[in-house]
Amino acid sequence: MKHSNHLQEIKGDVHIRTIEEDATLGLLSQPRSIPPKYFYNATGSDLFEKICKTKEYYPTRKEDEILTQYSSSIIDQVRPVNILEIGSGSSIKTERLLHACNTVDCFPTYSAFDISGDALLAAKTRLDKKFPWLEMSLLLGDYEAGFTHLPRVDGVSLVLFLGSTIGNLARASALVQLRALHGYMSSTDYLLLGYDRVKDERVLNAAYNDQQGLTAAFNLNMLRVLNSRLKGNFVVDGFEHSALYDTYKQQIVMRLVAKSNQKVKLEKLSADFEMQVNEVIQTEISRKFTIETMGDLLSEANFNVVQTFSSTDDYFSLALATCA
Ligand code: SAH
Ligand code: AVI
Repeated sequence: MKHSNHLQEIKGDVHIRTIEEDATLGLLSQPRSIPPKYFYNATGSDLFEKICKTKEYYPTRKEDEILTQYSSSIIDQVRPVNILEIGSGSSIKTERLLHACNTVDCFPTYSAFDISGDALLAAKTRLDKKFPWLEMSLLLGDYEAGFTHLPRVDGVSLVLFLGSTIGNLARASALVQLRALHGYMSSTDYLLLGYDRVKDERVLNAAYNDQQGLTAAFNLNMLRVLNSRLKGNFVVDGFEHSALYDTYKQQIVMRLVAKSNQKVKLEKLSADFEMQVNEVIQTEISRKFTIETMGDLLSEANFNVVQTFSSTDDYFSLALATCA
C-alpha cells in the first residue's frame, strides 16, 4: 500500500454535474460562469503552485507560517490515527504537520483527497521520499459528491481543509460541504480549516493580479480546459484576466473578459454562441472571512471552534474545530 501509486476513485452519493452539464448551465446562459474546479488540469495545478510562490499571493506563506508555529501543539492535542486532507493539491504545507508528527511521536496514516490525479501523484512521490514511515493513500474524486464513500479508519481523524479553498464556494455550498464533512466525522475527530481574512482591498487585489501574470495564465487556462474537454474553439488571446475585490460581498470575483466580439463553438454540446466585446465569464469567487463570519458558518454546520490560530498580521487564520 505504502509504495503503491494507486489512485482510488471515490464516488459520492450526491449527483455531480458533468462538465457538459455545467457548461450548458453556466456558459449558454447569462451571466456566464463555469465552476473553478475545472481549473485544475495538470497545467492549472502547476500554475496554482507557481502563484503560491509569488510575492503578491500571501495566503500560502501565511498559512505556512501558522502551521510552522502551531503544528506540534495541534498534533499533540489531536494525536490522529489518520489525517484526511480535502483538496490536498501539492500537500506542501501538510509537511509541517507531518514533521510535527515525527516530533511528538505520532505516526498517522495520510489520505489525500483531490480532483487532480496529477497533483495527488506528484505529492505522493515527494512525501514517500521525505517521510519513509508514512502510509499515504490517494483518493481521487469531487468533494462536492459527499464523503459517504470515503474509507473510514478506527480512531481519531484530523480532517484538513487548507488554503481557504472553502472560500471558492458560495456560502450555501460551503455550508452543504461542511455539513457533509460533519456527517462523515465522528465526535472525537477534529477539523482544521484554513481561511483567508477580510483585509485592505489593495492587498487582496494585488494577490489576484500578480505582476508575473501567473494568475492571469491560470485563469486563461480555463479556456484551454474547455477547448480540450468540450471540443471548443475559444481563442485564448481573445480574452483577458480580471480579478476584483467586492468589499460589500467580501469576495474576489475572477472573470475572463472578451477583448473583442467572439464566436464560440462547443462541439461536444452541439452549441455555439457569441460574446460581445467586454462580455465576461465568471470563473471563480474567493470569499474572505472575519473570525466572526467563519465562526457563524462553522456553528451553522454544527462545528465547535476549539481554537483559532492567526498569522501575526491577521491576514490568514486556521480554525481547529470539533463536531458539536
Ligand atoms: N490545499 C492546497 C491546494 C489548494 S488549491 C493548498 O492549500 O495549497 C485547491 C485544490 O482543491 C486543488 O488541488 C484542486 O484540485 C482541489 N479541488 C478543487 N475543487 C475540488 C473538488 N470539487 N473536489 C476535490 N478537489 C477539488
Ligand atoms: C484554491 N483557492 C483557495 C485559490 C484562491 O485564492 O481562491 C485559487 C486561486 N485563484 C486565483 N489565485 C488563487
